[in-house]
Amino acid sequence: MSWMITGGAGYIGAHVVRAMRAAGQSVVVYDDLSTGDAARVPDGVPLVTASVLDRARLDAALAEHRVRGVVHIAAKKQVGESVEKPLLYYRENVTGLQTLLGAMVDAGTERLVFSSSAAVYGMPDVETVTEDTPCAPMSPYGETKLAGEWLVRAAARAHGMRVASLRYFNVAGAATPELGDPGTHNLVPMVLERIEAGLPPLVFGDDYPTADGTCVRDYIHVADIADAHLAAAQHLETAAEGTGLTLNIGRGEGVSVLEMIDRVLRATGRTELRPEVVERRPGDPARIVASADRIGAQLGWHASHDVDAMVASAVEGRRRSHG
Ligand code: WQD
Repeated sequence: MSWMITGGAGYIGAHVVRAMRAAGQSVVVYDDLSTGDAARVPDGVPLVTASVLDRARLDAALAEHRVRGVVHIAAKKQVGESVEKPLLYYRENVTGLQTLLGAMVDAGTERLVFSSSAAVYGMPDVETVTEDTPCAPMSPYGETKLAGEWLVRAAARAHGMRVASLRYFNVAGAATPELGDPGTHNLVPMVLERIEAGLPPLVFGDDYPTADGTCVRDYIHVADIADAHLAAAQHLETAAEGTGLTLNIGRGEGVSVLEMIDRVLRATGRTELRPEVVERRPGDPARIVASADRIGAQLGWHASHDVDAMVASAVEGRRRSHG
């Protein structure tokens, strides 16, 4: 009996695969390789190269690998792109999830860990965000993640499934250099890309109502994210039918853009490059920091890596992947 990791050839998925294997759980990766890399799938782990929109391939994979639970990470996740292409994002992230759930119900696969996001909150006007903070997503990406949470909870209630939706805050770092974030769509990889080009990092606005005027985020090491997925899967193994958890994954500590950029510049020895302030990016909340009390209480999970560990591992991962 295996757990199937959709998106398991991606940045976060590859870390989840390794965490579950290290805990002795057999896994199968289901990934269309649109952004994933087959080289990230460890030897000995079966890879099904297919889309979650392909019902026939899902049925075959769930049966062939006798899947007892699914960690669903495969999704489109660029906020800006979702504004330009909402139909693509709703198809991949919502219709894809609905197709997966249909296949799971028919196959009798009763456990689902769903990759959600802090983007469901939009611009919360609170010091720290709990799972009870009202959700008001600002982008089609965030909307698809909130709709996904509704879908999985409805499936849990109607079909006796056990589900956990995990709301990721800002993911950074790498457990090992070869698993670094290959994308350049978030702060740390974007800063590293500018530094490699000998250019100053860009600060998208410094006139926010925060201590140094730049946006504050809750950065969480991808290895901690992976451990939270493992803890959720293990919890669902024995959870009652109809269980539906919604959990923040963060550290509960806010770090500003300027602070993060400064740490990256120091870690790369490029402190001569002074950050350049440019226009605000539309839709950015001034501050979004998680309360991770509930996941601690319900799963016994707590973040164990600090910001310097995230930055050091991101720098090393970037060096490995970009020479
Ligand atoms: C962080 C801060 C930027 C680059 C998004 C999604 C969220 C999650 C993480 C998937 C912002 C600023 C950035 C740069 C900058 N994704 N910035 N200069 O927008 O907080 O969250 O990605 O789940 O759901 O919403 O992350 O890394 O894009 O930006 O000043 O070169 O860094 O304005 O304030 P974000 P981010």
